[in-house]
Amino acid sequence: MSSLALFLTLLLTFLLSATAQEAPANPAPAPSPVVPGGRPSASASATALPTRPPTASPSPSVLPLPPCGASQGAIFITNPTRGSTTVVGSTLNITWTYSDLTDKARFPAKNIALYYQRADQGVTPTGWKPIIEDLNPKATVYTWTVPNVQDGQFFIRIAADGIDPQRSTNPDTRCVPDTFPGPSNSQQFLITALPPLQTFPDNLGPNSAAEKSTLVTSITSVVAAVSAVEVLAYFI
Ligand SMILES: *[C@@H]1O[C@H](CO)[C@@H](O)[C@H](O)[C@H]1NC(C)=O
Repeated sequence: MSSLALFLTLLLTFLLSATAQEAPANPAPAPSPVVPGGRPSASASATALPTRPPTASPSPSVLPLPPCGASQGAIFITNPTRGSTTVVGSTLNITWTYSDLTDKARFPAKNIALYYQRADQGVTPTGWKPIIEDLNPKATVYTWTVPNVQDGQFFIRIAADGIDPQRSTNPDTRCVPDTFPGPSNSQQFLITALPPLQTFPDNLGPNSAAEKSTLVTSITSVVAAVSAVEVLAYFI
């Protein structure tokens, strides 16, 4: 009989533990009420969104507007020249001068910044990549180690004293003082991974120039001969 009591005790214990395990199973559906509860909070944050712009609108950094000069100076980029070629990893001397209208005693006052950007994929105001941004204001040359970019056409851009209106997204910063040199773009130039062909000839021998012209002449006559043969073949 005591074994029956033990059995009943065990059975009771089992049933109690089973119901105890089921008990947490009941709150399991609770997450489904939580989900609808989550939606209101999400829509609450969505309705909170419109309140953000008023707080965000004063935050864009308001730069002090330079006065609008009637006679602005200019920067002329003298190197790289239009259509010139420079090779990845080589050094390129970027050089520039200022127009007569620029008051060179006053400007640039703080620094010179140089940028580059691809010219063949749509130039954008924010697409300028810095080369150097804290160059001495009196400098007129910077030796740039050309980065490892994909072959293509590029522009160099120079901006003085951190005033680079076309790089800014704020059109109100376009004004600059009288005699201030405005930002300036270079002509298009090529950056390539391959050295330009014209760097080869002159090191090859004392008569390299003559050899070259002989070579060009013979190539020209070969081309002419081939063309003549083609014309002949055409008529036959
Ligand atoms: C680049 O400029 C430096 C001086 O700033 C000069 O020593 C060097 O010869 C120049 N290189 C070329 C290729 O003109």
